[in-house]
Amino acid sequence: MFIKKLYLKNFRNYEDQTFEFGEGVNVVTGDNAQGKTNCAEAVFLLATGYSPRVKKDRQVIRYGQDKAEISVDAQSNYGNVSVKLNFYEQGSKKIFINGAETKRIGEIFGNVYAVFFSPQELKLVQESPDDRRRFLDIAISELSRRYFYSLQKYKKIIEQRNKLLKNEDREMVLDTLPVWDDQLAEYFADVVLMRADYVRKLAPKAMEAHLYITDGKERLEVSGAEKYFGDRAEVVEQIKIDLANCVEKDLVLGYTTIGPHRDDLKLTLNGEDVRVFGSQGQQRTTALSLKLAELEILKDTYGEYPVLILDDALSELDKNRQLAILKRIQGVQTIITCAEMDEKVFSQSDCKLFRVSNGRIVG
Ligand SMILES: Nc1ncnc2c1ncn2[C@@H]1O[C@H](COP(=O)(O)OP(=O)(O)O)[C@@H](O)[C@H]1O
Ligand SMILES: [Mg+2]
Repeated sequence: MFIKKLYLKNFRNYEDQTFEFGEGVNVVTGDNAQGKTNCAEAVFLLATGYSPRVKKDRQVIRYGQDKAEISVDAQSNYGNVSVKLNFYEQGSKKIFINGAETKRIGEIFGNVYAVFFSPQELKLVQESPDDRRRFLDIAISELSRRYFYSLQKYKKIIEQRNKLLKNEDREMVLDTLPVWDDQLAEYFADVVLMRADYVRKLAPKAMEAHLYITDGKERLEVSGAEKYFGDRAEVVEQIKIDLANCVEKDLVLGYTTIGPHRDDLKLTLNGEDVRVFGSQGQQRTTALSLKLAELEILKDTYGEYPVLILDDALSELDKNRQLAILKRIQGVQTIITCAEMDEKVFSQSDCKLFRVSNGRIVG
């Protein structure tokens, strides 16, 4: 996968700017607050519809404007593809794939594929299970739109189920729940099975990446809470039983106590929980290893590497490690943002340099 052109109009601090990227390493450099991360963010938005930074789309619209437009032209093994996103002041957005508008937001996945890493991804290791689920959800959606749609439906039913659990008409609730739960079990099964499959692929790749970055010193183990085994029909039946068994507890608590919305990923280094015992450096490397593993899974699925976006990510590593990572990602189109003082590291490899200032390329 290779992004040829990125176009930004009234996006963040960019008024009107085109980036023509090279196939190898692209370095976006400049002073603080000039638009480096904004550029990286736009690429990931076009790949996934998600901003790595904000939940509210409208924040990306340039101050004082009522619409932002971003687009990419990319080339993949499957041919040329273009994705365009329009963001509107009211909070809505429009998606265009190869010029045609699509109303289903999941259709954005699988056109331009990308992996994003920045120092903030540390939260993937440090913070709540939410962040780890979000990582899995976006990573798996990039491989399977079906996952994205099942997850959407799952979340919607859970929301309705939780509302129902709070209803005081117990008789009505007990009559209605099984109907909801039959539907819920289908999407629940899709999500847990696809997550389990993903974690199985992720674990050995993350371990390998982590051994590589730490010169063989640290063994990273990744596991999910795998509770369901067997074929899909068996899993659906088991989930129905589990949901029924939880009804009493759910009624007392007023929410659904089992399900993928409560899953977590377990991460250990040499047997110790990284979240509790890992140093900041180890946690950062763990997050990077997960992302490098994600990169390899995308490659296995699509037969070509996705675009790798490294936002300020290498500055915290020592020079040898930076070079080791650059060596590892040869053949991957990479967009690296960094402060000017770090750009020398990259000039050793064949790279294209963009210097940005106040939302414009100035060199
Ligand atoms: N919606 C917006 N409209 C205009 N400017 C914005 C908007 N959102 C962020 N900015 C500006 O973008 C700049 C930050 O850009 P960023 O890409 O994060 O910087 P850096 O180059 O340090 O990575 C700040 O000056 C901020 O004010
Ligand atoms: Mg930045």
